[in-house]
Amino acid sequence: MANSRIAGFFKLPKEQKLAALQQQTDLNQQDMLAWDNGGLTYENADHMIENVIGLHSLPVGIGLNFQVNGRDVLVPMVLEEPSVVAGASFMAKLARSTGGFTAKSTPPEMIGQIQVLNIADMEQAITNVNLRKSQLIEMADGIDPILKKFGGGARDLIIRRFDQSPVGPFLVLHLIYDVRDAMGANAVNTACEKLAPEIEQATGGKVHLKILSNLADRRVTTASCRIPASELAFDGYSGEEVRDGIIAAYAFAAVDPYRAATHNKGIMNGIDAVVMATGNDWRAIEAGAHAFAARNGSYTSLSKWWKNDAGDLMGELEIPMAVGTIGGATKVHPAAKAAIKLMGVRTATELAEVIVSVGLAQNLAAIRALATEGIQKGHMGLHARQVAIAAGANSDEVDVISARMVEQKAIRVDLAEKLIWELRNLGAKE
Ligand code: MEV
Repeated sequence: MANSRIAGFFKLPKEQKLAALQQQTDLNQQDMLAWDNGGLTYENADHMIENVIGLHSLPVGIGLNFQVNGRDVLVPMVLEEPSVVAGASFMAKLARSTGGFTAKSTPPEMIGQIQVLNIADMEQAITNVNLRKSQLIEMADGIDPILKKFGGGARDLIIRRFDQSPVGPFLVLHLIYDVRDAMGANAVNTACEKLAPEIEQATGGKVHLKILSNLADRRVTTASCRIPASELAFDGYSGEEVRDGIIAAYAFAAVDPYRAATHNKGIMNGIDAVVMATGNDWRAIEAGAHAFAARNGSYTSLSKWWKNDAGDLMGELEIPMAVGTIGGATKVHPAAKAAIKLMGVRTATELAEVIVSVGLAQNLAAIRALATEGIQKGHMGLHARQVAIAAGANSDEVDVISARMVEQKAIRVDLAEKLIWELRNLGAKE
């Protein structure tokens, strides 16, 4: 079993980092190569989208220290923003003291929507659909024999009625489909399209849209963690102070949509990074997450933080997680395949549970920083490095230039350029 605690990982040169990963997992040289060159060839890319002119790369970092449902997992994260990987890894380390994250999921059921317009008799249409319901479900169930073989298939057909809309009344049927390890869009869209003629016959109406809903509120993963207050103490802040500060930060997001948007953005920093690393559709995840956050009529925090009777900090994140481990880019993109292998997840549900745990860890990292020293302090060093690189510092110069900017509490490209000039022309002053 992998050990996700690799001491001093961040200090290792790239080859040693890769070797350390290889030691913990069954990744081979070929898998590693996917990260070395970004994974995609032009030919691969040219088959994925249209008008392809090249490739666009982003860093892959490893989230360390994660333990999810008792299993250590090394988490690949793809994003451009500094501090996210380090923040999530640090919070995963704190959560380890109580066994890491516990996660659970509902079955991987997606919703396909079928809109039916021009219905002359609503009551009769509803009665007819109800009468044919089991036949329609059976029909949808037979559409994807592969999914059926692995235990998936159509589960239900739910009727929703909209009496008032800009085009008058219409019906919407929700086809509930268990998509197992797929993200499910293809299976569900196909099933909805195939059912359309039968539904027109049953309702006497005209089927209009037939499409998956990204509000995947039947495919929800919940991750939770417990952190003893003593683990939270640092730099003169007591554990209780940090814990209560985190709870007050959560309270802000719970009641104010302006804050909730930013709070949830922090959660998505962690979530999207793993979704991207595994070749999944992060727009679908974003759409589902924010719609879910507003499901009770006002937009609120996706996570909850409170203290238990023993005074430990308790956290929970519940979110729709429509990700797959088969189909789409997950199977085409070599780096996505390597990412799934690195995590050692066997099902889409296991992948979802790791992703939501990373979201919770990332949320904790952000609100812990905000509730104590502020976000800029942690950000400053990494931000300074980016500014130094943007100003033209080479790899031998980046550390010294960024350290000098942090010292001067001014992180600007013009200052970095001046410092680079001084370093090159006047040498080190110290
Ligand atoms: C920045 O990318 C994310 C944060 O704004 C999240 C938050 O405010 O909770 C730091």
